[in-house]
Amino acid sequence: DSLAGRFVLNRSASPASAAERAQALQDLHFGSAFTDHMVHARWTRAAGWQDHAVIPYAPVTLSPAAAVLHYAQEVFEGIKAYRHADGTVWTFRPRYNAVRMNASARRMALPELPEEDFIASLVDLVRVEHLWVPEGAGESLYLRPFAFASEPFLGVRASEVVDYYVIASPAGSYFPHGLEPLSIWVTTGYHRAGRGGTGAAKTGGNYASSLLPQQEAYSQGCDQVCFLDDVTRSSVEELGGMNIMVVNADGTVRTPRLTGTILEGSTRSAIMTLLREEGRPVVEETITLAGLLEDIRDGQVSEVFACGTAAVVVPIGRLAGEDFEVTIAGSQVSRQVYERLTGIQYGTREDTHGWMYRL
Ligand code: COI
Repeated sequence: DSLAGRFVLNRSASPASAAERAQALQDLHFGSAFTDHMVHARWTRAAGWQDHAVIPYAPVTLSPAAAVLHYAQEVFEGIKAYRHADGTVWTFRPRYNAVRMNASARRMALPELPEEDFIASLVDLVRVEHLWVPEGAGESLYLRPFAFASEPFLGVRASEVVDYYVIASPAGSYFPHGLEPLSIWVTTGYHRAGRGGTGAAKTGGNYASSLLPQQEAYSQGCDQVCFLDDVTRSSVEELGGMNIMVVNADGTVRTPRLTGTILEGSTRSAIMTLLREEGRPVVEETITLAGLLEDIRDGQVSEVFACGTAAVVVPIGRLAGEDFEVTIAGSQVSRQVYERLTGIQYGTREDTHGWMYRL
């Protein structure tokens, strides 16, 4: 509570009416409706972070020379606010996201935002937008903090002016077909990240580079693209916008180890903790595509699933590539993990880890 009020409220004079809001909450498509307010703060090299405010949601005015538009100096985060049965609103491990955004910021030569200010920005925004937090099963208010280089300057160097925003979007499931098993296209022509690159940072460029291979995935009838590492071109790294986990028939769960080219997911990390608690071995290791296909074919792998903040936990039912196609039938562990994780997030299970933070 001591964090509330750090961002001064400048209330919108024309918020959505109750009917408009109800309409927007009725039919939720991921990332397409936005609330009445947003957070803003500005950093300058001379003065540091200033002007912390919650302001009316509106277009952002930028110089056409703003560095982000040319050189993509940007970071972002994804985190959700959940409504519990008693009406209270909570978020999940906000400090994890605060720390991660600062790690991304360091890689992108952007200023770090104090962790308390990051958390306060979520508190202050969600308090004014609490009516926008939906209450249906699997629904939440998706929060998108981001910071970018706004200095009008075409020389290639770190911006001396940076803007931080948080926008909020009521969300249902990320995929239009809900929690149905995903089809994954494994691309071999494109890689998401290289050694020493920005793969571990949550920065727009990583997602920009995923769009063309993601189109390749769509054209192959798949929902998401899966990337292989760029050095050996043989090990599975992550999907376009989520991490991947493999369940062995013996109960062991495996996920690609963090090599510097993978985004360290908050959901990935929480799931590893939950699985270990129930006594399952969880290993972070190199997972080769060839080994995975062989293990699926001979039944040693019973399940594969995707996980992320936006996606939550979704089974993968099919893996396809230039010269292979396999189906995977299992979804028992991913279903269990989904129930455990969302139980904590929606307050129907005890939060023994102190992961939930009241907004
Ligand atoms: C998230 O899961 O929050 C992300 O930022 C990934 C993106 C595909 C929506």
